[in-house]
Amino acid sequence: MSIQDMGKYVPSKTIEEVAKQYGFLPKDVIKLGSNENPIGPSPKAVQAVKDYANAISTYPSVDAAELRTALAKYIGYPADYIVTGNGADGVLDILTRIFVERGDETIIPVPTFSYYELFTRLCDGVPKFAPRDSNFDVDIDALINSVSSKTKMIFLCSPNNPTGNQIGERDLKKVLNATDAMVVVDEAYAEFADSSVIGLVREHENLIVMRTMSKAFGLAGLRVGYGVLPPWIFKEYMKVVPAFSVNKLGIVAAIAALDDKNHLRRTIQTVKNGRAFLIENIPFKTYPSQANFVLVDVSRLSAVEVCEALLRKGIIVRGCESFRGAGDSLVRISVGTMEQNRRVVEGLNSVKKEG
Ligand SMILES: Cc1ncc(COP(=O)(O)O)c(C=O)c1O
Repeated sequence: MSIQDMGKYVPSKTIEEVAKQYGFLPKDVIKLGSNENPIGPSPKAVQAVKDYANAISTYPSVDAAELRTALAKYIGYPADYIVTGNGADGVLDILTRIFVERGDETIIPVPTFSYYELFTRLCDGVPKFAPRDSNFDVDIDALINSVSSKTKMIFLCSPNNPTGNQIGERDLKKVLNATDAMVVVDEAYAEFADSSVIGLVREHENLIVMRTMSKAFGLAGLRVGYGVLPPWIFKEYMKVVPAFSVNKLGIVAAIAALDDKNHLRRTIQTVKNGRAFLIENIPFKTYPSQANFVLVDVSRLSAVEVCEALLRKGIIVRGCESFRGAGDSLVRISVGTMEQNRRVVEGLNSVKKEG
């Protein structure tokens, strides 16, 4: 596979782009396209960034040890079960490079977060796409049947981006017991969900759970992610990860954010209230969600048209046409503040009437 043949990651449009293109002031554009924290970062994290601004001329700790200690306390695992990197994306990149070589296979139930496919291809691996049913639940037996001697990694996003559903613990155990391949459960949205499988890492040598500080902790701009994994992988990861891969401000802000339980509680409450509001009021079919976004099926209207109509109203949401296997009628809407949620519902109501 050459780099020229690879697709590239498609991000949400930015507020600045949309303001310029559609003639709005940036303050009048709302962005519900990247599943960011609707109430912003913890004030304690912001203060930590200010306090350490003068220290940016010196390197951070080589392996983010102080951050791993704080994360260990948060998740209840020793620090040698935790690896950190430049966002969960950065950690996934390294892990895929450890396990996947030319011709190896990965299994990816689609639609899902597109980086699993991109990182596989970057390692000259071959992604195999597994089916989901009409509620986007993974067909576990079909997935297990598609495991071959070449399978090196299985990527299960839970809650899944962009569909919002989780994989059950029983199904996961079935997969873990059926193969020696590494099973990655990406729990970037875990804090908004009713359950997590992080407790299973202790019991399975082939389970990695991914987490991030970008969502519930509101630090997407600082790029801090982590993986929870058995210590034998920790040793391999430490050989491969570039030194200093979490920056100094990311480390201090993440530690402060982990310490701000009040902000985390407010974030989760805002998301759960807003999620219920969106599901109740959006005038199209929505799917149940365990994450900080809601998937909407605009049925006979196309996702591209609906997104464009909302952009003209200064509202950025995410059409899912770039997600493999999502078709062209799905739109993902991040939960915002109540004011933003009302505005997107109003926008969708008028798009529906016009359409
Ligand atoms: C499922 C999933 N994993 C990982 C990430 C990336 O996280 P990070 O910002 O830590 O790289 C995202 C971001 O949207 C995501 O949806």
